[in-house]
Amino acid sequence: MPAISSTAPGKIILFGEHAVVYGRPAIAAPVNQVRARAVVSPAPRAAPGDVHIQAPDVGLDARLADLPEDHPLVQVVYQVQAALRLARLPALTLRITSTIPLAAGLGSGAAVSVACIRSLSAFLGRPLPDDRVSAIAYEVEKLYHGTPSGIDNTVITYDCPVYFVRGKPIKTLRVGAPFTILIGDTGIASPTAAAVGNLRRLWQADNSRYDTLFDAAGEIARAARQAIERGRIEDLGPLMDQNHALLSSMGVSSTKLDRLVQAARKAGAWGAKLSGGGRGGNMIALVSPARAAAVEKALRSAGAVRTILTRISP
Ligand code: PMV
Repeated sequence: MPAISSTAPGKIILFGEHAVVYGRPAIAAPVNQVRARAVVSPAPRAAPGDVHIQAPDVGLDARLADLPEDHPLVQVVYQVQAALRLARLPALTLRITSTIPLAAGLGSGAAVSVACIRSLSAFLGRPLPDDRVSAIAYEVEKLYHGTPSGIDNTVITYDCPVYFVRGKPIKTLRVGAPFTILIGDTGIASPTAAAVGNLRRLWQADNSRYDTLFDAAGEIARAARQAIERGRIEDLGPLMDQNHALLSSMGVSSTKLDRLVQAARKAGAWGAKLSGGGRGGNMIALVSPARAAAVEKALRSAGAVRTILTRISP
């Protein structure tokens, strides 16, 4: 059996994060400049069933049998084994590397899962189709954060811009005209589970206030979908600004995110907002290619630890 390698992109949420957990639509796009890679190779000297997992980025080098059952990577292996109805796995090594920053709202967990599911199932001789890959990645996402909407595993599996509504079949988004997004990283790790859990408690304490915010975010995502499909990029900036204001009202922004968002707007971005779970992680700015360098410089001066320039194209 030859070694099999698979990669999966990072992602950004353009509109509707958090509200999407509560059934409102959201828009996400892959970010191909950062990727997770999983390589599965045979381990001829190990006993059948002996699975070794290496993830040097997080200092993991262990036998599957020695890891806790609820470890996301253990679950990936078990779920692929169950999906293929295999009583036993051959001896193998699963090695994961990734350039996607962790706990930064760029979908690193889902990308690692998707890359692992694809390389494992291909190595075992039966590559799983996209819908199964996405479904397994969704189950594993639940271990990263309790109540995922499913947007991360969907956009990363299908590797194209999506208009996503929880529980509904995937809708890929036609992009009428390309546009440029600059991603700015606060450098503050912020696990999505904490942001989602905190907002859930707030929502439970005051349903009507938060439902109103989620409805408004949903309307913005609908308007943004039309603008993207019709190639009316100039409409997207104000929609991003409005979405950021709503996310601030939901309590998921932070001083540093607000600072980067302001810096981007001041340097000429058409609009800016936090992206993903918030409270840290990344923000995104809509820029003209001509202003990208100036906005990038402004983000760096305002404390961004990294920037990624990405283009959303048809
Ligand atoms: O922080 P990320 O990249 O995992 O994005 C999470 C997006 C949320 O809407 C906050 C949660 C979800 O499951 O959709």
